[in-house]
Amino acid sequence: MSRVAHPAGPRYADVLPADHPPAPPADLNALDLAIWPQTAARDTTSGALTLGGLDVRDLAERFGTPVFVADEADVRGRCREYMEAFGEGVNVCYAAKAFCSRAVLRWVTEEGLGVDVCTGGELEVALTAGVLPERVTMHGNNKLLAEIERAVTAGVGHIVVDSFEEIARVAFVAEQTGTRPKVLVRVTTGVEAHTHEFMATAHDDQKFGFSLASGSADEAVRRVLALPGLEFVGLHSHIGSQIFDTAGFEVAAHRVVELASRIYHTHGVAISELDLGGGFGIAYTTEDDPPDVRSLAKSLRTIVSAQCSAAGLPEPTLTIEPGRGIIGPSTVTLYEVGTIKDVDGLRTYVSVDGGMSDNVRTALYDASYTCVLASRTSAAPPMLSRVVGRHCESGDIVVRHCYLPSDLAPGDLLAVAATGAYCWSLASNYNHLPRPGVVAVRDGEAREIVRRETLDDLLSLDVG
Ligand SMILES: Cc1ncc(COP(=O)(O)O)c(C=O)c1O
Repeated sequence: MSRVAHPAGPRYADVLPADHPPAPPADLNALDLAIWPQTAARDTTSGALTLGGLDVRDLAERFGTPVFVADEADVRGRCREYMEAFGEGVNVCYAAKAFCSRAVLRWVTEEGLGVDVCTGGELEVALTAGVLPERVTMHGNNKLLAEIERAVTAGVGHIVVDSFEEIARVAFVAEQTGTRPKVLVRVTTGVEAHTHEFMATAHDDQKFGFSLASGSADEAVRRVLALPGLEFVGLHSHIGSQIFDTAGFEVAAHRVVELASRIYHTHGVAISELDLGGGFGIAYTTEDDPPDVRSLAKSLRTIVSAQCSAAGLPEPTLTIEPGRGIIGPSTVTLYEVGTIKDVDGLRTYVSVDGGMSDNVRTALYDASYTCVLASRTSAAPPMLSRVVGRHCESGDIVVRHCYLPSDLAPGDLLAVAATGAYCWSLASNYNHLPRPGVVAVRDGEAREIVRRETLDDLLSLDVG
């Protein structure tokens, strides 16, 4: 039985992983608010799931299925939680790669967050949403020259440089445009962290950043400092995803602060900013128990203070970049059940009207999800189920193990929780399925913030 390690969990390999379905929950209709959006509830009469005060049956009828439903109050609440927990002087930036739409970027910036983008496309969404350019940080391991030009001329707050070529390109663009962009140097610390585990190696075998171990990071800083057109402000490190334990951050911060100390002693420059990236974990199932944001914030701040004071360095301004932690739990995917197939008395395969084109995380990372019957409650006994999509792949699994009521029927609606991060943003048109829309709900009002694609949209691209 093989499971291939992957940054976001074991990868679904060519061999099916061992099946260890969890025990059925005590109540199939219950909604654990550690997993579901803050406004999720059951209608007291029909038992249907409600989000933002709206019945999902009405949402499905009005907007169709599959559809992502984003709870605006939940997103704003999490932004406030991060802002309050990290407090004055810490810069919280939403990592737009998790989910990037104008409405969401407006919500997060209205709550005081900055925005991280990693392509010209994400940058355009931010700029056209009205995000102040100085609140935008531009990432990416291969930014195109045109993207650097756009970022620099728009006046983004920071550019995170990721290669020697890019240092030269940003300096060239700065000279051409008469600007002096603020630059962070992304370093790879050899630390990889996921959930409770982290690995600290002496080498960095990955495409992002400048290796600390090889001395590339020192050289990158030297080159940036030698270019008067660039303003060197500090260092950036991102160590992983879905992290529950701060031990990995401690090792990474220690290594980054060692570099900061060398910079200080070699060049007489103290870094003014330290960006520790994102990766803070959320609960997808009842087995996940992420630390609360307040204790996470306290640990990270303590780690940075302790490392800087041990190195005799002034404390830089800390930046963090949560993506999943802000948007992940806010969103639910609604699907309609199409077929129900009992396989050899092993389990029941429940096919829905979406699949790996709207949520590839299960196929890609063996991710776990929680789902419930959403259009009603049921007192029927639990049935061990696998929720699958309608793509031409046997790995097209949305929820590997879940218990659904045994009276489930075609036409019922299922809701899958915590699909806000890396689902729509990784969506594809595999098998020519149009991508679902995203509907925002708040105080009994719903509006589409990303339009559902149509088959005509797809056909219009086929110009041969
Ligand atoms: C540089 C950087 N910052 C932030 C994030 C956001 O991570 P998460 O959504 O897990 O918080 C990522 C994710 O890959 C990243 O690469």
